[in-house]
Amino acid sequence: MRILRTIAEVRQWVRAQRQQGRAIHFVPTMGYFHEGHLSLMRRARDEGGAVIVSLFVNPLQFAPSEDLERYPRDFERDHQLAQSVGVEALFHPEVGEMYPEGYQTLVRVPKLSAPLCGRSRPTHFDGVATVVMKLFHILTPDRAYFGQKDYQQLRIIQQMVRDMNLPIEIVPCPIVREADGLAMSSRNVYLTPEERRSATVLYRSLRWAEEQVQSGERDACTLREGVCQRIAREPLARIDYVEVVDAETLEPVEQIEQPTLIAVAVFFGKARLIDNTVVRP
Ligand code: PAF
Repeated sequence: MRILRTIAEVRQWVRAQRQQGRAIHFVPTMGYFHEGHLSLMRRARDEGGAVIVSLFVNPLQFAPSEDLERYPRDFERDHQLAQSVGVEALFHPEVGEMYPEGYQTLVRVPKLSAPLCGRSRPTHFDGVATVVMKLFHILTPDRAYFGQKDYQQLRIIQQMVRDMNLPIEIVPCPIVREADGLAMSSRNVYLTPEERRSATVLYRSLRWAEEQVQSGERDACTLREGVCQRIAREPLARIDYVEVVDAETLEPVEQIEQPTLIAVAVFFGKARLIDNTVVRP
């Protein structure tokens, strides 16, 4: 597996792949790989083409009060894991390579960035859209793979690709969960053993909502309150939001009449965890 540190090296690698007639399949990450990341890499590999993964903890998507400095990192482990699932190149740039002195440009997808996580993290998605746009220009992938755990991020990237006419297929991939239902996340390492146990309430509450919809419940307010109550019963949980929104526009809905996203963000100690499910009438 090639480790590429500069944009020039990436461009050369991509050119060589294209000369062999290969498609470029891209998995953007911030590293500290878990089974969720590896499932994206395997899917990118199984769909053919040359798999390139970016590993870049993007400072632009962290507010000054957030966890940029302590965000978990382990390059050697990530290197081994990526290699084990058939990744052919790992793009691991320095911050100065992505944002050289004097860097200014931002990409914004304002409507989709405002609700849900955008309320407590108002600059986060500008940072995500900007770095993903840069990566797309550098790597020129044919396909890019995104996990549905970061559902709002996925919708923003889909919108950005459409608005900017980028010839890239965005491939949404299912949430990967631990055996007890907790969605895999690099930030799960922040949890103490008690918080880790409590955090399973997110999956249990979302499952409850799914079952309600399967049994005919259509009232968004009933679902939202039911999920809130279940999470609030966990003493270690502090709710940031529980929302029931249209799965495409991310605008609040009153009734479940089309695909609807039930999304939660909850603090357990220092960790802010997100999870979601899409329900259909
Ligand atoms: O989902 C992530 O890990 C990041 O937000 C991404 C897409 C790699 C951009 O930094």
